[in-house]
Amino acid sequence: MSISSFLTKNFLKSLFFPAHNRGEALPKGLISLLKKQPGFWDLPELPEIGSPLASSGLINDAQIYISKKVNTKKCFFGVNGASGLIQSGIISMANPGEYILMPRNVHISVIKACALQNIIPIFFDLEFSNETGHYMPITKDWFKSIFNNLDFENKKIVGVILVNPYYQGYSSDLDPLIKICHQYDLPVLVDEAHGSYFLFCENLDLPKSAVRSNADLVVHSLHKSLNGLTQTAVIWHNGELIEEINLIKSINLLQTTSPNSLLLASCEESIKDWLNKDNIEKYKKRILEAKNIFKELKNRNIPLIKTQDPLKIVLNTSAVGIDGFTADNFFYKNGLIAELPEMMTLTFSLGFSNQKDFIFLFQKLWEDLLIYTSKSSGLKVKKPPYRLVQSPQMPIGVAWRSKTYSIPLSESLGKISGDIICPYPPGIPLIVPGEIIDKERIDWIETQSLFNKDLLNSYIRVLYN
Ligand SMILES: Cc1ncc(COP(=O)(O)O)c(C=O)c1O
Repeated sequence: MSISSFLTKNFLKSLFFPAHNRGEALPKGLISLLKKQPGFWDLPELPEIGSPLASSGLINDAQIYISKKVNTKKCFFGVNGASGLIQSGIISMANPGEYILMPRNVHISVIKACALQNIIPIFFDLEFSNETGHYMPITKDWFKSIFNNLDFENKKIVGVILVNPYYQGYSSDLDPLIKICHQYDLPVLVDEAHGSYFLFCENLDLPKSAVRSNADLVVHSLHKSLNGLTQTAVIWHNGELIEEINLIKSINLLQTTSPNSLLLASCEESIKDWLNKDNIEKYKKRILEAKNIFKELKNRNIPLIKTQDPLKIVLNTSAVGIDGFTADNFFYKNGLIAELPEMMTLTFSLGFSNQKDFIFLFQKLWEDLLIYTSKSSGLKVKKPPYRLVQSPQMPIGVAWRSKTYSIPLSESLGKISGDIICPYPPGIPLIVPGEIIDKERIDWIETQSLFNKDLLNSYIRVLYN
């Protein structure tokens, strides 16, 4: 089967990203464009259109219009996902050899930017739930204790990255965290890939967007948490701690010379869709419906985990002795396609279209899952074996560029990793280049491998001694 024929495959219900739900919730402006003669709209960088970094043209106009509306200094569209703009943001914050503070659950794109630019991550650990196997939001006290453990004398720390919300929808109160960073004159980049819509939809008891919490850079994935096409993203710039010219140079460094005109139009249309007051009423309705779905399923005794993002339905499969990967296979075979299987849970993304038949289908398949799947009483997660504050023993960039060879993970004790082990989704690395592989890390990854086929019998590239 060709890729293009697979793209027309029907599923009973698509509860994955992109959040436009297979076109149903695409912005109207984009739908009418796509109805025109196929390919007609695929234009190069003509002077009238320009590009995200041009100082004239329709893209520049749209970016200026939108950043004014949202009250930020600037914004730039991106066509290489949130990944690409996060990487540009990082490069605008730090020079080679400098340090950035970041949580252990950063996206793999951050690690790749560090490898590329020889930036050194200082990872901080997060509180962890044994019930769900998820990292917990960051409290002010936790964050303060991280800062108390930083070595400002010997390490040139130049910025902080925060991830908010997490993949499953957990969200921290960012105000005090960003304030602490700013007290140290450190700029903050917030990876808000999963929370774009928080910015446009206030008063619904949603988390406050990082843009409103004074973050210096905020990156949104417009296909994960708004209704744009896959690969579309935007970066918002505020404050004085990051120079605009550095940001522009860094975007330029990584950007294609031929950004896709359809994707750029999608960036504009999806954001403008949410700036339109009439539409906001429609989206607010969707969000309230999502909250009701959660309530209704809970009333039916389905074990769901509450997070701060109503569009994420997190099923606690471990509550009935089933791991999230087995549950995912079952739902997939029956046409209900989820977004994120993990050891203890399975997360569904409701997206922005109407999900009126969801409760019925979900309950039916849940009941079937209970009947047809064998249960295990020993389902237990292991807390990730990270220290509170920790950098790789060798700089990531150096390890990444070193000569390596491949061995089974189980035989890699004491070696230095030249590799990233990273199941996707969620794209959070379990080990990064430059880290010494110790027994705790091997045991932990092996526990995860019992359920995650990607990790089973995993090999790792390690440095020669
Ligand atoms: C927290 C987080 N940040 C960034 C990204 C990258 O987003 P994109 O797929 O738009 O490049 C992801 C993707 O999974 C993510 O989960």
